[in-house]
Amino acid sequence: MALDDFAGAAAVVTGGASGIGLATATALRAAGAHVVLADVNAAGLRGAAERLRADAPDVAGQIVTAVTDVTDLASVGEMTRQALGVTGRLDLVIACAGIGRGGAVETFPAAEMEAMMRVNFMGIYHTVQAALPPMRQQGRGHIVLLSSVAGKLGAPLLSGYCATKWAVRGFAIALRSELYGTGVGVTTVYPAWVDTPMVGAEGLQTEGLQIEVLLKPEQVAAAILGAVRAGQRDLTLAPNPDIARLIELTRDDPDQAEDRAGKAYYRRTHPQPA
Ligand SMILES: NC(=O)c1ccc[n+]([C@@H]2O[C@H](COP(=O)([O-])OP(=O)(O)OC[C@H]3O[C@@H](n4cnc5c(N)ncnc54)[C@H](O)[C@@H]3O)[C@@H](O)[C@H]2O)c1
Repeated sequence: MALDDFAGAAAVVTGGASGIGLATATALRAAGAHVVLADVNAAGLRGAAERLRADAPDVAGQIVTAVTDVTDLASVGEMTRQALGVTGRLDLVIACAGIGRGGAVETFPAAEMEAMMRVNFMGIYHTVQAALPPMRQQGRGHIVLLSSVAGKLGAPLLSGYCATKWAVRGFAIALRSELYGTGVGVTTVYPAWVDTPMVGAEGLQTEGLQIEVLLKPEQVAAAILGAVRAGQRDLTLAPNPDIARLIELTRDDPDQAEDRAGKAYYRRTHPQPA
């Protein structure tokens, strides 16, 4: 079900201290929502809340910050209780907390693979599990889950990241079926590279990984609000023509898509002598 009026709505944004989460919280606040920023980065949260207040000092919505580790179910439960204290309802949950790491499978550290799965997948599962009881009771609510174009294709050097984002995609499809008829809607978001601290992070500075950033977090935030208003299931944002083509090919002819991605990577890593 769509949530078409954000005025007075209570919205949780995980990963709200930075990037897409912060931009979405800013857009929600401008639309009149109360926002609960949940993030593991306490200093980042304080800075984000100050920025939200300074950006829109005259709007009525409350800003609540909750230091939250989405890998920890108890921490997410506590944050959700805090969010319910704002209006007694939980109207919208935007799950943006995530980390990105790249590297070849042979040398990729197991600890990093596990950390990525814990944040990007288990974090989403914990966030949804905590949000569902109040939303079911209300008979209304909307959940937005951040996957990535990496959840619609396979990219060399991003095996772990792709695995977590395909996991979010599968989870979301099953969840929507499970919630049929409850009044609780789910939007899955699949953006290509976005200009946020994540893409500059050390973990993604891997030789051979092609990163072409064409999206701003504010564009993604505006599209998310539009998708929630429309009750849209799939929000794919891929302005990069090569990524858009590969998504289509992966859907229509997955074998050819793998070969094309593989050949392009092979050519990049095995340059022909001049
Ligand atoms: N930036 C991109 O190119 C891009 C593209 C597609 C999808 N995404 C996805 O969008 C989401 C947001 O990414 P972003 O680019 O805004 O990144 P970002 O690094 O700017 O923000 C991510 C936020 O998540 C928080 N976080 C990390 N671990 C956490 C944990 N255990 N508990 C709570 N918070 C935690 C971080 O502190 C940070 O504030 C992620 O799920 C990411 O995978 C990003």
